[in-house]
Amino acid sequence: MCKSMDNYRELIGDIDAQHAKLSEMLETLQGTDSDLVDSEEVSDALTAMIDYTHLHFDYEENVMRSLGYAKAAEHAQQHFEFLKNASMFCVDVINGTRGTKKELCNYLSGWIEQHLEEADAELALFIRKKLSSLSP
Ligand SMILES: [Fe+2]
Ligand SMILES: [Fe+2]
Repeated sequence: MCKSMDNYRELIGDIDAQHAKLSEMLETLQGTDSDLVDSEEVSDALTAMIDYTHLHFDYEENVMRSLGYAKAAEHAQQHFEFLKNASMFCVDVINGTRGTKKELCNYLSGWIEQHLEEADAELALFIRKKLSSLSP
């Protein structure tokens, strides 16, 4: 990855845009009419959101690795745990052994909100510091 100022700005812009898209997809999921996780509408929205989350996490993890971010492994572990827990939660809701669609959505939005405020904010700060170190 070429470490020019424009590249760093682009990284921050890309990550912000991906977060906005993720929030939009979560709102779509929350706004689905059915309360049944295995209904086609909910299942499609959930699958789209989880698929996009995978792409976003891969993007962030590539950025962290290529910039030599010291907390890359710890941050990637949080991503991994989230995807594991989210998929277990989905299966449990579908099987009727735990929770409802609303509770699943609350888990997803709560985790994402906290992760953005903490781990992702720290990463953004690291990228901004790299950017300012290049400023004349
Ligand atoms: Fe993120
Ligand atoms: Fe992240």
